[in-house]
Amino acid sequence: MKRAIVIGASSGIGREVAKLLIGEGWTVGVAARRVERMQDLQAAAVECIDVTADDATERLRHLINNIGGMDLFFYASGIGKQNRGLHEDIELATVQTNGMGFTRMIGEAYRYFAGKGSGHIAAITSIAGTKGLGPAPSYSATKAMQNVYLQALEQQARSRKLNIRFTDIRPGFVDTDLLSGDFRYPLMLRPERVAREIVRAIEHRKHIRVIDWKYRLLTACWRRIPRWLWRRIRL
Ligand SMILES: NC(=O)c1ccc[n+]([C@@H]2O[C@H](COP(=O)([O-])OP(=O)(O)OC[C@H]3O[C@@H](n4cnc5c(N)ncnc54)[C@H](OP(=O)(O)O)[C@@H]3O)[C@@H](O)[C@H]2O)c1
Repeated sequence: MKRAIVIGASSGIGREVAKLLIGEGWTVGVAARRVERMQDLQAAAVECIDVTADDATERLRHLINNIGGMDLFFYASGIGKQNRGLHEDIELATVQTNGMGFTRMIGEAYRYFAGKGSGHIAAITSIAGTKGLGPAPSYSATKAMQNVYLQALEQQARSRKLNIRFTDIRPGFVDTDLLSGDFRYPLMLRPERVAREIVRAIEHRKHIRVIDWKYRLLTACWRRIPRWLWRRIRL
């Protein structure tokens, strides 16, 4: 029996991943703030969790108990906005959700698996963490933090001889609510397709998966751009 928790299953990529896992026979517990958006998923249990709230970890433990334990923790919650005007509310809300919320929930899953003896943590971060992106400062910074945090936990787990696996999933632009608005994004991917790649990456126990090949190429180029040149690029 494979048991998975999906946090951020009420829309977008998380919802598609939850659907696929349920279709593949996993016992799945889902969570997000908009509970009504998850009722049709036929999940084993549904929980209202706001990852920025103090009771989020307690609610996660409740959800894990409701499905009889957890083998896979899949984290998809996140917010992101372009913020060329550097509005304080957007910057701080992003840090709170993608920084503090992420740390809170990933940490709880890690401690759970450490106690249980094994488990797999997979999280959607982004290609936005590859470099500091002028149009979305807190978004790219929190995504870089998520990348590094997972890398750090992977090293810590290994040195503590904990059998915890990690998959850092980094998609390019995906056609979800997160990108809704007037701006037209290039190379847009469908969430259903991204979800299929994610489930494959989890099954193959990939450490990092950039989705898709075009973005693998793009991020490889970005990494080679020196700082003096990067700051001159207009995104
Ligand atoms: N779309 C893209 O182009 C793209 C690219 C790379 C990475 N990503 C990442 O992929 C992840 C999923 O985004 P998406 O594109 O699928 O967007 P989405 O459709 O807006 O989904 C975001 C999910 O996060 C949940 N969420 C947001 N704030 C939350 C909170 N405080 N507590 C609990 N859950 C919260 C939402 O649920 P509720 O609002 O119901 O709580 C929703 O289920 C995000 O981390 C995003 O940064 C997206």
